[in-house]
Amino acid sequence: MSYQNLRVEEHDRIVHLTIDRPKALNALNAQTLHELNQFFGTDYRDRTNIHGVILTGSGDRAFVAGADIKEFMEVARDGNGQAMAHRGQEVFARIENFHRPVVALVNGFALGGGCELAMACHLRIATENASFGQPEVNLGIIPGYGGTQRLNQYIGKGKATELILTGNRIDAEEAHRLGLVNYVLPRKEAAQKAIDLLTLIGTKGPVAVQQSIRAINAYYSNPAGYGTEAEAFGATTRTSDFEEGASAFVEKRIPNFKGE
Ligand code: CAA
Repeated sequence: MSYQNLRVEEHDRIVHLTIDRPKALNALNAQTLHELNQFFGTDYRDRTNIHGVILTGSGDRAFVAGADIKEFMEVARDGNGQAMAHRGQEVFARIENFHRPVVALVNGFALGGGCELAMACHLRIATENASFGQPEVNLGIIPGYGGTQRLNQYIGKGKATELILTGNRIDAEEAHRLGLVNYVLPRKEAAQKAIDLLTLIGTKGPVAVQQSIRAINAYYSNPAGYGTEAEAFGATTRTSDFEEGASAFVEKRIPNFKGE
């Protein structure tokens, strides 16, 4: 398949996958999610002759700045917020369960759906300018692509709750200190580290690598948690607070929430 919003290059059995919407800070619209699903679920699903995938964002400002707010305002108005969350969760689960390791090379903002995407990858390497957060409360909604489930897994319930309730951003060093990322490095070294890790893993038994991924994930699967998240995401997208929060984002102003 040819992609509109993904760039795919392959060198020495490593696939470099870049989300390519730099004007929108690589925000995930429906087309991009569709293409990620196509890549991980179909096009590369049976590609056993690769060491792994390095997933990054185009440009030097953002990995992914979240779900595409402008687009999903419409989805929410049509009452399809819950279905949208289920769809995102499904695509990210394909990444989490991919048969070869996926390394997120986080080269800037990883916010909302972007932080959730990085967390669905097996390993995370951050450049020094990277930042992380789940800022959905600023829009009057909650994370919908697994953030309420996976952030706890990496940094513990207390800190995850703080980040989700405040919408605060953390820098790469803090993310490293908390265990959210494996390494923080200058940009060139970060890219090389991702290659080195996948090359090393590529020397190990492929079946062992695949089964390790499967067994690790088994411990963390909780369908009820993801189901509750999607339902709660859908509920918040039906509020007038979300209409206000998303409008405030587009109009670049502070929202005035009413709790309705
Ligand atoms: N969706 C759509 N467009 C986005 C976007 C997003 N998530 N994030 C940034 N953009 C667009 C901006 O609208 C802007 O476009 P224009 O040039 O047309 O105005 C462009 O990218 C550059 O962004 P800014 O001008 O805002 O750049 P900045 O440097 O002032 O701020 C930022 C950068 C802090 C990342 C800011 O853009 C921001 O806060 N973005 C939104 C982050 C966010 O809330 N993410 C969560 C989305 S909801 C979600 O993801 C739910 C889920 O779990 C599924």
